Formats: sequence, structure tokens, C-alpha cells
Amino acid sequence: MTRGDERRFPEGFLWGAATAAYQIEGATTADGRGASIWDTFCAEPGKVHERHNGDPACDHYSRYEQDVELIGRLGLPVYRFSTAWPRVMPDGRTVERRGLDFYDRLVDTLLGRGIDPMVTLYHWDLPQALEDEGGWLERDIAARFADYASAVHEALGDRVDHWTTLNEPFCSAFLGYGNGVHAPGISDHRLALVAAHHHLLAHGTAMRALRERSRPGQQLSIVLNFSPALADVDDAAHRDAARRFDAVHNRFFLDPVLGRGYPADLLADVAHLDALEPAVRAGDLETIAQPVDWIGVNYYAPTRTTPLDDPTAASNCPLPGLRGMDVLPPRAPLTSIGWEQHPPSFTDLLVWLGEHCGGVPLIVAENGAAFEDTVDPDGAVRDADRVRYFAEHLGAVHEAIRRGVDVRGYLAWSLLDNFEWSFGYTQRFGIVHVDFATQRRTVKDSGHFFADVVARNALPG
Ligand code: NOJ
Repeated sequence: MTRGDERRFPEGFLWGAATAAYQIEGATTADGRGASIWDTFCAEPGKVHERHNGDPACDHYSRYEQDVELIGRLGLPVYRFSTAWPRVMPDGRTVERRGLDFYDRLVDTLLGRGIDPMVTLYHWDLPQALEDEGGWLERDIAARFADYASAVHEALGDRVDHWTTLNEPFCSAFLGYGNGVHAPGISDHRLALVAAHHHLLAHGTAMRALRERSRPGQQLSIVLNFSPALADVDDAAHRDAARRFDAVHNRFFLDPVLGRGYPADLLADVAHLDALEPAVRAGDLETIAQPVDWIGVNYYAPTRTTPLDDPTAASNCPLPGLRGMDVLPPRAPLTSIGWEQHPPSFTDLLVWLGEHCGGVPLIVAENGAAFEDTVDPDGAVRDADRVRYFAEHLGAVHEAIRRGVDVRGYLAWSLLDNFEWSFGYTQRFGIVHVDFATQRRTVKDSGHFFADVVARNALPG
């Protein structure tokens, strides 16, 4: 039964939830898994909250059947997860069959329940062995990544239709190499630009390899994170500050993937670092420009920007090349991780992407919010803030679709509370609560709410 005031999503809209290997699997030494840069980073004092690490996380490596059953009970048609490169290739090069077998079992279990798997090949857990050879600073990483992508495709390609190469290269390049808050913890703007280019080169090289192997119906993509810039004043100086932020945050990875090369304004903004253009060799931009079947959009929050009087003054925003602008504190309401809740920015972003991507379909590959949750004595998790966040942000997606944007799906971040990188286990993003002491899973009110939206293919009016 449909109600007249509900907001329906298009037929066949892909609904689901997402996770990532290092954030949920645990079992970091099981079945021959090699160390990743995140294992190393977590062990260094002062990097991750109270030296938390990915073990045992949600112990998903042992509990995947129970977790898949949970996805089935929530009625989610799609599950996005990542394969761990150090599990598949402990030394970054040699296949460990037992590692691949885990994903083989996971995929079969999902398909057995009628859930469509969506594989992310890289969600930040580079094998430490490759980092020891220079990691993302070496061009050869592109070939290594393509070999790894091919090995995973060889094992799962007969059953998995949705593939994405990299998740948020912005984070693994700029936070990993630019301000050092992510592994491998390097703070060098020039190196961050080199690492970013090599991420894109790896994406394009893997896309070529995957496209050669892919069968009809398979869809290949990349997942990028976006943060629209908000300015208080609409004048030339504020628009230019927002533009500078937008170039490095929202267009750096997108434009080369779309075949447009690096944006001219970005190249001018980062020219003083003399690092990006020297890293780009003949043919690289063609490699990066492999056609994608859709763009994965991760959205959490906007960023408030303001100009500095001196256009060459260093920004307080630790992104490579940003000068002449500052980032202002986020404004209430905030989530527990300190991010601003501003749903209209999500609509604006999707509308802009719809125009900018020239007809390439979009899938929201992540959206969600961290709040402090507790399990009540009656066993319920009454996360009203998260229910509201999802309702408002799903409304924002619906509004973009209403305005004609080709959004094909929406995946909630995250299925489970998990290891939130440098914040350790302090930030809960799950629609399912995880008690990390007992590994007990409890569907939160937001999980029930989301399941209801999925079942109706509509938001309540
Ligand atoms: C994006 C990342 O892909 C994911 O790993 C992370 O947990 C969420 N954002 C929340 O920060």
C-alpha cells in the first residue's frame, strides 16, 4: 500500500549498507594475512585514539555468516565491502589462497541470501611490504594494484557485478601523506600530490585490466568523497576561497577520472609546490580516463570557507596547495565526530555532480553519522539523532532525483559500528550497534527506520 504523501525512489534503486575490511574484519594475522600500513600506524604511539587497532574490530572474519544474516533480516539488497589487499596478497604480490577464500565464502553467503555484493578493492589497507618499497610514492604501485585487482576479479568476477577500485583516494593520499593523520602518517604536501597522482594512475591501470576481464552486466567505478564549500558572503573573494577548496577537495580526483585532466585552476593553485605536474608522464591522463559506469559519491558534511587577505598566505586547512583561504569551524548541529549536519549541501552536491559528470550515473556509496549510542535496558538503541540524519539526508537525495539527477542507489555508512580510523572505536556510525566487549549486534532504531524506507522504496511523507 502506498500513501499519497510518501516520497518514492525510482524503481530498481540500489539500497544497501557499506563497510570496509580493516574497520570490521579483525583477524589481522589469520590465514597468512600480511601486515598493512594501518596495522603499523596503529602501533605507533599518538597516532590512533588510545592505540586502538583493527583487532578484533567486529570480528567479522569469524562472524560473517551472522552479519550476512543480519543484512538479510534488514532486507538490504546490496552490501558494499572491501577486500583487504594484505589478506589476498600478504607481500603485496603473491596470492594467498586462504585470503581469497574468505571473500569467496562471503560472496557465496551473500548471494545465497539474495544480496548483491559490491566490492571495493582498496579501502586504505596497503600491504606494509609495498609501503616498505615506497608505497603510493612509487609509480610501480599502479601495476601492483592492477595485478591485485585482477587476482580478486579472477576469484570473484564470475559472481560479483559491482566493482569499485579505490575508496576516497582523497583520504589515503592527502590524509596519509599530506597531514599524516592517516597511515602511513607522512606530512609533506609535495609527496601528497605525488601519492594522489599515483592513486589515480592505479585506478586507471586497474580499470583497464578489469574492463578486459569483465563480462556483460559488470559495472566498474571509483568512490570519491566530496565536501561542498559554504561561504557566508557572496563576493569575489569568498567565491575564490570556496573555489580553491573545491578544486582540491572536489575536483582533484573527479576531473581526471572523467577524462578532463587536472583542473586548470587547481594546477595553478598547486604550482608553487612543483610536484604534481612533474609526476604526470605522457599517457597517464589517458590511462586515468577509463570510462566508469558510475561514480560513487561519499557525502557527510560541507566545509565553511573564508578568504585570507594575502592570497599566498598558508591556509589553516592541511590540504596540499591551499593558500589564501581558511576553513571556519563547522556550525551546529554537529555529529559526535564534530561534522556539521547540513542536508541542503547534499542536494546541491548531487545536482552539481549531475551536471559536472555529463550523464555518468551516481550512486551514493556512503552517507551516515556518528552519535553516542547506548543500549537501553530493554535492548533497544534509540538513536533518534541518526534517524533524523538519515531522514533528512535521504530527503536531500530524493530532492536531487526530483530535480533530474541520475542517482541510482544509496548505501548507508555503516552496517556496523566499527574502527573509525584515527578515532579508534570512539565514533559509532553503524545502523547496527556492536558491543565490542561481547560482539553482540543490536539493530538500532535507525536500522529499523532504514529497513522500512528500503522495504517501501520510499520515505514517509
Ligand atoms: C569514509 C570512509 O570511507 C569510511 O571508512 C569512514 O569510516 C567514514 N567515511 C566515516 O568517517
